[in-house]
Amino acid sequence: MLTRIAVFVSGGGTNLQALMDAQKSGIITSGKIELVVSSSPDAYALVRAEKNNISTAVVSKRQLGSQESFEKKITEYLDEYKIDMIVLAGFMSILSAEFTKKYANRIINIHPSLIPSFCGKGFYGLRVHEAALQYGVKVTGATVHFVNEIPDGGEIIMQKAVEIEDGDTPEILQKRVMQQAEWIILPKACEMVSKKLMEENKNAALWD
Ligand code: GRF
Repeated sequence: MLTRIAVFVSGGGTNLQALMDAQKSGIITSGKIELVVSSSPDAYALVRAEKNNISTAVVSKRQLGSQESFEKKITEYLDEYKIDMIVLAGFMSILSAEFTKKYANRIINIHPSLIPSFCGKGFYGLRVHEAALQYGVKVTGATVHFVNEIPDGGEIIMQKAVEIEDGDTPEILQKRVMQQAEWIILPKACEMVSKKLMEENKNAALWD
């Protein structure tokens, strides 16, 4: 059985786009994106999902009032769609230790630097690239990792390096890291994990 994937988003959704394209082009074959969960009703990622006929759900922590009810709502959706695996693709809300434990080795995240550089609390969006430029590193990149209770602290699955060029601004660098690393390694890592889960499911079925 194919791995049933949910992609969590908050913004533009270019990484979601890369995942949907990878599904069409045959890079992702062992799983299917069944649901897109957004923490914001205005995320353009929702439009991208709808254009690809993928079900969407908006779950706002602000509206739900607490971390507990936020995660309860998410879990209800995940159960409804029988989700096996979660991809965080620009998801800006924190998930609790309880939640990440429940889905251990089933949640992956894309971070726009070479972990352990420029990661952890406070390193998100343009801030990551600002910090890389400020430090003066000559190479940066992106990392896909499993998600646990430590921000950007889970096991690394895949990384890709990107050169920093003279005259880079955080915006220019962000774009290059997306084009040369994020949009490439996120679908590949997604397929790797999804395939493993599919094979485990298959094995489990032998014992049914
Ligand atoms: C990406 O840079 C990703 O690495 C980070 O958030 C950004 C999301 O961009 N976690 P998009 O919504 O996929 O365009």
